[in-house]
Amino acid sequence: MSAAAPVRGEYDGMVAAVTGGGSGIGAAIVAELSARGARCAALDLDVSGVPDGVLGVVADVGDDASVRAAVERVVGELGGLDVLVNNAGIGAQGDVGANDDEEWLRVLDVNLLGIVRTSRAALPHLRASSAAAIVNVGSIAATAGLPQRALYSASKGAVHALTRAMAADHLPEAIRVNCVAPGTADTPWIQRLLASAADPAAELSALNARQPHGRLVAADEIATTVAYLASPRAGSTVGLCVAVDGGMNDLRLRPRG
Ligand SMILES: NC(=O)c1ccc[n+]([C@@H]2O[C@H](COP(=O)([O-])OP(=O)(O)OC[C@H]3O[C@@H](n4cnc5c(N)ncnc54)[C@H](O)[C@@H]3O)[C@@H](O)[C@H]2O)c1
Repeated sequence: MSAAAPVRGEYDGMVAAVTGGGSGIGAAIVAELSARGARCAALDLDVSGVPDGVLGVVADVGDDASVRAAVERVVGELGGLDVLVNNAGIGAQGDVGANDDEEWLRVLDVNLLGIVRTSRAALPHLRASSAAAIVNVGSIAATAGLPQRALYSASKGAVHALTRAMAADHLPEAIRVNCVAPGTADTPWIQRLLASAADPAAELSALNARQPHGRLVAADEIATTVAYLASPRAGSTVGLCVAVDGGMNDLRLRPRG
C-alpha cells in the first residue's frame, strides 16, 4: 500500500524500467508505478522476487553489454521506454583510508557508472517518448556528512551532481532528469546492516533517533516521490534532488527527552 493514493491512470500507456527493481526501494518503485498504470520492468542481478505482471530482466549495471541488452529487451517486450529509474546501488563503509582502490572503483562503477550506462542505453528510446523522465536515486549521504561512509557518500555526491548536469543536457530534448535523496530507509539493505551490528536493537534505536521524525523512512514514501518526479503531471519539475529523509538534512530539532 502506497503512502499516498495513486492517481488512477496517471501512467497509462507508459513503460518504466527500474534498476535494482528486485528489492527494497526499487521494488516499491515498481509497485507504485504499476499501480499508477505503467508497464514496468525490473532490471536486477536477482529477479526472483519480481511479481507477476512485471518484466524481470537479469542485468548488471556494472556491465555495459548487459545493460544494453536489458534495455533493448524492455523496449522489445513492452513497446518503448518512457521512464528510467536509476536505483541500483551498493554500500561501502569506513573512512577515506578504509577501502583500497579496487573497492573504490567497484562502488563507483555500480553507483555512478551504472547510471551512466543505463541512461546512455535508454536515451535513444526516451527521445522517442512524449513523456520522458529519468529519476536517479541519490542519498542523504550526498548532502550530510555521515561518519564511516566516505566512499558511499562520494559516489552519491556524484549522483546528485550528475543529475543536475543531465537535467541541463536533456531538457532541450524534453527528457526531464531529477533525483530522490532518501534518508535511512527500512529495506533489506538496512536489515543486513542491522544484522551485522554487535547490538542490532541498539543500532536500530540509534538510526531511529537520528531521524527528526523518529523512525526509518519507508520504501513506499520514496516510491511515491519517484512517481511524482517521473509523472507527466510534473512537467515543470527538473534538475531537483528531493530529500525523503524525515527532515534529516534540513531540520535541527531539540533532542527528545
Ligand atoms: N536503504 C537506505 O537506507 C538507502 C538510503 C539512501 C539511498 N539508498 C539507495 O537506494 C537504492 C536502493 O537501495 P535499497 O535499500 O533498496 O537496497 P537493496 O539492497 O534492498 O536493493 C538493491 C537492489 O539493487 C540490486 N543491485 C545491486 N547491484 C546491482 C547491479 N550491479 N546491477 C543490477 N542490480 C543491482 C540488488 O540485487 C538489489 O535488488 C541504492 O541506490 C541505495 O544507495 C538507500
